[in-house]
Parts: sequence; structure tokens; C-alpha cells
Amino acid sequence: MGEKYVVFRPVLCIFHWESDAFLGSVTDKIVMCGIIAYVGPREVRPILLDGLSRLEYRGYDSAGMATLADGQIDIQKKVGRIAELTRHVGRKAQPPANMGISHTRWATHGEPSDANAHPHADSTGKLVIVHNGVVENFQPLKRRLESEGHLFVSATDTEVLSHLIGRAYEDSTEPGDRRLTDAIRTALHSIKGTYGIAVMHQDHPGLIVGARRGSPLVLGVGEGEMFLSSDATALLPYTHKVVYLKDFDLTEIRADRFQIESLTHDTAEYQVEEITYAPDAAERGEYAHFMLKEIYEQPQTIENAIRGRLNSEEASAQLGGLNLTPAELRDIDRVIILGCGTALHAGMVGAQMLENMAFVAAETDFASEFRFKNRPLPRNSIFFAVSQSGETADTLGALREARRKGYRCLGICNNVGSTIARESDGGMYMHAGPEIGVAATKSFVSQVALFGLLTLTLGRMRQMSASTGHMIIQAFEKLPDQVRRILSTEDHIAAIAQKYAHVHSMLFLGRQYNYPIALEAALKLKEISYIHAAGFPASELKHGIIALIDPQTPTVVICPQDSLYEKNISTMQEIRARKGPIIAVATEGDEEIHHHADDVIYVPRTVEMLQPILNIIPLQLLSYHAALTLGRDVDKPRNLAKSVTVE
Ligand code: F6R
Repeated sequence: MGEKYVVFRPVLCIFHWESDAFLGSVTDKIVMCGIIAYVGPREVRPILLDGLSRLEYRGYDSAGMATLADGQIDIQKKVGRIAELTRHVGRKAQPPANMGISHTRWATHGEPSDANAHPHADSTGKLVIVHNGVVENFQPLKRRLESEGHLFVSATDTEVLSHLIGRAYEDSTEPGDRRLTDAIRTALHSIKGTYGIAVMHQDHPGLIVGARRGSPLVLGVGEGEMFLSSDATALLPYTHKVVYLKDFDLTEIRADRFQIESLTHDTAEYQVEEITYAPDAAERGEYAHFMLKEIYEQPQTIENAIRGRLNSEEASAQLGGLNLTPAELRDIDRVIILGCGTALHAGMVGAQMLENMAFVAAETDFASEFRFKNRPLPRNSIFFAVSQSGETADTLGALREARRKGYRCLGICNNVGSTIARESDGGMYMHAGPEIGVAATKSFVSQVALFGLLTLTLGRMRQMSASTGHMIIQAFEKLPDQVRRILSTEDHIAAIAQKYAHVHSMLFLGRQYNYPIALEAALKLKEISYIHAAGFPASELKHGIIALIDPQTPTVVICPQDSLYEKNISTMQEIRARKGPIIAVATEGDEEIHHHADDVIYVPRTVEMLQPILNIIPLQLLSYHAALTLGRDVDKPRNLAKSVTVE
């Protein structure tokens, strides 16, 4: 990097995804939306539109951009998907522009509309801002600004911030470009809440200022061009060199240099990290949807999760990133796993693995519930916060709550540099590559695999025998091919999905390890097809759920040939007696199952604790094809966004 950049105590670090290192910092709660900004020699509009489409999973109710062309700020915004904005921008003949800021929105304050879409301008119209976050004290600030004569054209909290910066800009006596930075500093000091922002001003061509507190912001370092983005994956086509900005970092970017300073300290430390994703990792390629691509990536996902972590010699696993000594690992009395949605379901499988195979007491809780509970726990409890994005507000809040009480907290994250990864005492990275489809698929499989490795590690320090350890290792090694075998039956699964796609409701039943699979499969179906679906422990059927059984309500029974096979067969008979259609997920070679089910999906056999990994794969495909049959927007289901960074 050398003299090219103005730097404050720089640390150059080439970050490897293989690394188990976790980083440390502080943040508060965060919200969704996506930001991308560019300054450099290229025409900016295609770069912004491309970046927004890569960030669209973060929110997709409206989008907009501001560019600086011929010395004038030009703002274009459109309610709806990025495609609307692209069409809108494409219709206008505009002079070339080499810098701009843009935003895709998931509404918090103010309905989705052109007016509420970002960017927002100040009173002069010369200063524009895009913002991801919430200005919590925006109402008193707005009233004050209105009393001073400021006029607002939107219902957003962000517009208050633009006016605040504009006002501070008028008052600032700093020379040159520092005037803009100084105004931003002043305004940020007067707000409460969270922000990831990008700001530019007509009178400061070539300069974009970014800052963050509680909302992710990544600086992309190109060759003679610079970027800001909410997510590093949006930058992959342009640069693999990034700086994950920390809370209270403020950055000035120009085409040929950047500067990072702190809003709270005299100096800011940062690392330039190298993302080692394949260039096409965030592309859909030949697949119709990201979700399908990610389902098909799962053999690789498992390989990535276990690579370098299995230890055949010791019949164990090695998890360097946990940052715990063998003595500390042996001393753990209880494991508490926290997460939301799919991540929690993975944790539920993990808790059973830990109890059954590692002989450690383990439990799960909704991160959102745990935060507000009184939970007396043994001192030697250890927490795991599970989160693909590493930015889920509820999970982050729960992690902070556990840390406040003095517990050791580890993370299981996919997103390197994410807030949960930074704030954890250690953890395991998933190495799953970008997950763009809003419905989580490969992250689930990866998380369950990581819990398998943890079970192996802790189990071998307790009563698990070497032969059991070897058996688990061998099973792990076979998993990728077994997943490939399931994927090769996609047409059969698609036909079943088409047969049932028009039902009003579907039930999912499973026992023990497969109860969380029933929950996860039901969640997948709900999310992307909007069919009502619910998962239960199979044994609960007769305690009330059986009232739902009728010829129009199919039930998926996860029925591997394991220790509970006979019990599942009884459950199916109870359903059949009420004329309920049954789809069974069964073990390859189980012919008997055809006497009990209308449709059968086979999966290969593995050890019981890893069977859930195989069982979820066909059910992901079932949801995918049901949604496709119904014409749903698979990758961007209604009302959802990928990272739920609001509480
Ligand atoms: C389901 C889904 C969500 C997430 C949940 C947690 O398909 O995507 O239920 O699993 O919002 O997200 P992360 O793992 O990013 O914390």
C-alpha cells in the first residue's frame, strides 16, 4: 500500500477464510438496507446499479442514487425493485459522472415511496446522503430544524441527518474538503442511533465521506478507485481488498486514496484485508436462482466447513478459533446456543449432538427471548451465538447480554468481520461463501456440520470412544458425495412439490435430531412459497395436531431407519387412518416405507447425529419447487430481507 494512502497506524493483513481468527470491537443495534458508493475514473451509474442489485437481498422496497455530473448533483429514486431504478435511470440521457452514492431500502421510518427512498438532500440541495440505520432522536431534531425554517420532503429519519449535516456545514470554519468532514462529525455527535452513511457535496468533487456506528460499512480499495458498501460481496467484481470499518470510524475516500479517522479517538486502527472468495462466488451463474445455486453448493459447503478441522490421528477435531485451552474445554458444564430462525434450528440439532455424543448439557433459546430473561446458569456455561450474517440484531443483543453477565461467548458466523464475529471471544467460521438467497440453505448445513465438529472435540475430551470418533470422521468424509446423490434426485422431488404446491397447509414431523429439521423445512416452505407450514415433534401428533389431518393437508414425515423408525411408522399409520397424504423422507433401500406413505424421498444413511444434514437437502428442494410452481419470487420473498438487523 506504501505512501499511496494517508493512513493512521495501518496494519496490513491478508485475511484468509481458512483462518479461525475472530476480531474485536463495539457496536449497537443495526438496521437493514444496502449502500454502495463509488469514486474513480469509470462511469458511475452502471457500477452503482450493479452494486445495488448485489445488495438487493438487504432490502428491496425502493432504491435511489445521487451522482455528480457537470458540477451538479443529480438524484434519481424509484419505489420498487432495483430493476425499476435501472429502467428509470436508463430512460434519461445524462452527462458522464465518475462519483456517486446509492441505496436500496427496507422501510423503517416512512412507507416505501419515491420520496422516502434515499438519497436525501439538505436544504441547499448540494449535499446528499444515503443512510443505513435509525436516527432514534429524529423527532425532536426535526421539530427543532423545522422551527429554524428547514423544509422536509420525506417522512424519513435520514432526511433529518442530511439537514443536520447541511446546517453544520454552513457553520463550519474548516478549510477545503475538511469542511464537509467536520460538518458530518458535528452532526453525528448530535444524533442517537445507528448509521452506516455515505455523503457527498456538490462543492467537494472527488470526495465521498463514509461513517458507521452499528450498521456495517466496508471500504473497497481499488486501483485508482474507491468504494463503500454495506457488504463486501457487492465489491467482488471490482476489488478483493477491503477495510471492514469499525464503529465510530469515519472515512474520506477519493479515487487515489482513502483516510480513516475515529469519531471518538485521536487515531483509528484499521486493516486492509484480502477477500479470498472466487470472483464468481456471488454470481448466480447457470442457476435460475441463488437459492438453487446455494442448495447445489452444499457438498462444497460441507467440505469447506470440515477442511483442516478433522484429526484422524486423535479421532477428534481441531478448532483453533475457539480460543479455549483443553482444560477450559473440559471444564464446560453447559452450552447455551442462541440464534434466530434457521440459525436457531441448526443450534437445536447441535444441542442434541452435544448432549447425546459429547455428554455436555446443552440447550438453545431464541436470541430475542434470551435477552430479556432471568437465566440462572452455572458459571462454567459457555454461549454460542449462531448467525450466518453475523449482524442479526437479536442475536447480537443476546450475545452482549451474556457477555455483560461475564460468560464466555463464541460465535458461529459466515460473514468475516461481522459484528458478532468481532464481539465474540472466539468461534468457528463457516467458510460457506456468500449466501445471497434470502432463504438460508447452505448456512444451515454448514452450522450443523460445525456443531458436529464441536461435538467431536468436546466428546473426545469426555466419554466418547476413539472408535466412535473414527466413525464420525468417516461419516463426515462421505457426506459431500451423499449430498450429491440427493441432489441428483431433484426431478423426483420437483414432481412431488408440483403435486402438493396448491395446498393451503403442510405439516412436518420429525423426532429427536429430526424435529429441528421439521421446523427448518416448514420455515423454508413458509418463507418462499407462502404456504402455511408448521413443524412438530412427531410424537406430539396425538396431543392436538392430529385435528389438522385431512385429505387436503399433506404431512412430511422424516423417517430415517434409526432407533425411532418403528415409532415414526406408527405416526404415519395414525395419519393414514385420517386420510392424510404422507410424504416420507426415508433411508435408501427402505422398501417397507411405501406401504405407509404416498410419496417417498430417499436419502443415504449416515450416523444418526449427521443424518439431519442429509434430511434437510430434499426438503429445501421441495420448498424451492413448490415456490417455483406458485410463481413466487424465490430469492426475494415478500416482506423479508436477508439480514434482520432490526429488533
Ligand atoms: C430463514 C432465514 C432466517 C435467518 C435468521 C437469522 O431462511 O434466513 O430465519 O436464519 O434471520 O439470520 P442470521 O443467521 O444471519 O443471524
